[in-house]
Amino acid sequence: MTIAENWNKFVAPTYAPPQIKLISGKGTKVYDDTGKSYLDFVSGIAVTSLGHANEEIAEAIYGQAKKLGHVSNLYANSVTEELAEKLLIISGMKNGRVFFANSGAEANEAAIKYVRANKPTCKLIALEGSFHGRTMGALSLTGQLEKRAPFEPLIPKVDFIKPDSINSAKKKLKKSAGGIWLELVQGEGGVNPLAKEFVSQIIQLTKDHFIALVVDEVQTGMGRTGNWFAYQEFDFMPDLVPIAKGLGGGIPIGALLISENFAKVIQPGGHGTTYGGNPIAATSALTVIKMIEQQQLLENVKRQSMLIRTNISQIPGVQVVRGMGLLLGVVLNGDYSKKIAQRAQQLGLLVNAVRPNVLRLAPPLNISSAETTEGIEKLSEAIEQAQDE
Ligand SMILES: Cc1ncc(COP(=O)(O)O)c(C=O)c1O
Repeated sequence: MTIAENWNKFVAPTYAPPQIKLISGKGTKVYDDTGKSYLDFVSGIAVTSLGHANEEIAEAIYGQAKKLGHVSNLYANSVTEELAEKLLIISGMKNGRVFFANSGAEANEAAIKYVRANKPTCKLIALEGSFHGRTMGALSLTGQLEKRAPFEPLIPKVDFIKPDSINSAKKKLKKSAGGIWLELVQGEGGVNPLAKEFVSQIIQLTKDHFIALVVDEVQTGMGRTGNWFAYQEFDFMPDLVPIAKGLGGGIPIGALLISENFAKVIQPGGHGTTYGGNPIAATSALTVIKMIEQQQLLENVKRQSMLIRTNISQIPGVQVVRGMGLLLGVVLNGDYSKKIAQRAQQLGLLVNAVRPNVLRLAPPLNISSAETTEGIEKLSEAIEQAQDE
């Protein structure tokens, strides 16, 4: 039986069949069941930002599990409290609050509730090509018809605007709209950064019509772009910021950062989840933040990003490398990203074919220059081989 056949004997076949089975990992490397090693430029889809089997994270989780694992939100605990305070500091959300969840989709669900509670029965606006998660609310805001269509009817009063079309934005961002969702770099949509001019026009429209600005930083947040959050590069303050992925460094945790103006919109009993901000997950997130600070990883992200951009953009067959920090899209001159990802895997490099003509690179934030160079060399070879086929 193949790996995929074994896997799908018990695991629901909602994903493309897996081709390799991973057994262990260390830092930027993972190892399969044959002992073959791979340089991991996927990081569990932009999650394991401090690499695999990180000793400090493992120690912190172990220590917390032995002390206090889970208490629910009926009681306070000092770890979750400390994480909330730390997140508000790094996000610059003075007097804000944090709602803890377990995933990116759930963080977006919370944002939907804050927006609707703030402006009852309002319209929700998102961008075409966007991705906000697979739960029914987050899916409703996902600007990819093929993902939404099989599950209609979704939540009512959702509308989409074209990325970078200010005319489309002006038509839809009116008083009836309660919130607009933006990914400053559309990750699943193909690592597509929004134009700064478009973003500033959107910000103005939200101010003119009292519309909540929701910046989904699930993929871009927690250092991935070389800033704690991508909006810091654009220099504005959103109203609501869903985060997850890199937050826990591999342990499931999500959160919604809530600005001061929205802090009291939902009152006790209005929203909740049993596991949200669980002390074990919160400890992992605190350790991630501490290590990014201590090892000055935001600077490393910028350095490694430059190394990748400069070298990969020169490879024949590559049109452009776009994105921010270590969330990069390699745009090819044809629809052969899957073929390249396959070749790269054979050469011992994991990359993700996010669109038919785009490869997504999201190595850990603590990757070394030597590993980045090794990844660049393997990817160049994979692109060359795929073109020769
Ligand atoms: C921008 C964005 N929002 C939300 C999500 C959903 O997060 P999760 O898969 O943790 O539910 C993702 C996942 O890829 C994402 O990239």
